[in-house]
Amino acid sequence: MDARAGAASGGAISPPAAEIPLSADIAAVRETAVAVLRANDLGDITRPSPTLYPHQWLWDSCFIAIGLRHLDPARAATELLSLLRGQWPGGMIPHVIFAETTDYYHAGPQRWRCDRVCTTAGGVQSTGVTQPPMIAEAAVRVGQAMSREDRADFYRRLAPGLVRFHEWLYRERDPDDTGLVTLVHSWESGMDNTPTWMEMTKPVAPRAVRALRRINGDDALDALRRDSKEVPPDERLTSADLFTLYRIVRELRRSRYDFRTIRSTFVPLVQDVAFNAILGRANEHLETIAAEAGVRIPRWLSRSMRRTRAALNELCSDGVYYSRNFRTGELLRHHTIAGFLPLYAGVVPESQVDDMVDTLMSPRYWAQYGIASVPTDDPAFLPRCYWQGPVWVNMNWLIADGLDRYGRTEAAAAIRRNTLDVIVSSGSMYEYYSPLDGSGAGSNRFSWTAALLVDMLDNGARPTSRAQAAIPTTRTPA
Ligand code: SER
Repeated sequence: MDARAGAASGGAISPPAAEIPLSADIAAVRETAVAVLRANDLGDITRPSPTLYPHQWLWDSCFIAIGLRHLDPARAATELLSLLRGQWPGGMIPHVIFAETTDYYHAGPQRWRCDRVCTTAGGVQSTGVTQPPMIAEAAVRVGQAMSREDRADFYRRLAPGLVRFHEWLYRERDPDDTGLVTLVHSWESGMDNTPTWMEMTKPVAPRAVRALRRINGDDALDALRRDSKEVPPDERLTSADLFTLYRIVRELRRSRYDFRTIRSTFVPLVQDVAFNAILGRANEHLETIAAEAGVRIPRWLSRSMRRTRAALNELCSDGVYYSRNFRTGELLRHHTIAGFLPLYAGVVPESQVDDMVDTLMSPRYWAQYGIASVPTDDPAFLPRCYWQGPVWVNMNWLIADGLDRYGRTEAAAAIRRNTLDVIVSSGSMYEYYSPLDGSGAGSNRFSWTAALLVDMLDNGARPTSRAQAAIPTTRTPA
């Protein structure tokens, strides 16, 4: 890796794209990205991918809006406003809002039966859990691409629902006033099979899964799953893990998605470090949005929001940030990409930042392409398996953003360059990439990869010339 940079640097922000023309090859890759976004556009929402994820996902829509703002700010705003259609009466914004489609999805409305619990603001069907609260970040980015008037109008429409979402996060998920919200399902973390969550969920596997595990009956389980028809099963979580996650959904459904009830069940409860780091940053943006929209943030909420920043540092031990088991208070000591998100939140003490940058740029996390979601020397590491090793474009985007704000602009630029390298040399908008050889995995028409590529290019980042030379001449059609 030739582009390591850990030292503090006050270097200039990358010049806008207009000053660095796109070569024909890069312009063609950008066109591929735009075509993926167009093909996944369902009108007011964008599905993450054509077959694997045919509905609206909360944090996907946020990353998608960050890219769409370069193409059409009004459409980007609609992407975010449409999330409010799924808002529950108590304020939750769900992780999936189901689109009116007959396309198959393995965890569709029948698995959740949320219509028996409540009616959403827009009368749409949804799941009963949430996802990382990226809305405020995305809204501010979209707002930057709008005229002052349009932005004020957009913020006025978004702010009341957004404040209610943040209220819900604290009221419902931090009843003990710890400053950290608690997640009830790994799907809420967005990192479904990260080792941290798999450690927590394994003990609650359904009896049939435990029995089949004893007789090595994985094939029988594989035959029952339906989420891996488009993507090879070894690029997704194992069948045993998937059926365990379904069991947890069943228990949540019985608890009517109510945290006080869920607390008295077997459901694993985690104060997830990445989720809370994203919340910490979102709170800052919420203040900006609310002030501009003239919406008041209740005093109790401001207090809770402040507490999150301090509480995130309770998750740090010997310079590493971890998630915490809500029930026992124990740190879940797995090294994963989630541990770097406090850089994005801006809560890492200055004295620790360079060590963290050195770690993420070491071969453990950055072998050929970085940043691996699980270190390459971890026993759980699988280079092409979902959140157990692959590089994810959204994680790189978030960490680079945090590093810029710490003044580590060279490190941030190196991450963006490397991210563009891995995407352009694959020629397709893959869901995730092997950190060892850069091969793409998961969906090959994944919206947030496309959107964040557009964002990085349009903000002036460029791949290396080596990667440009490797651009495949035939691309997977979008
Ligand atoms: N990522 C999960 C899935 O595969 C749910 O958000 O469907």
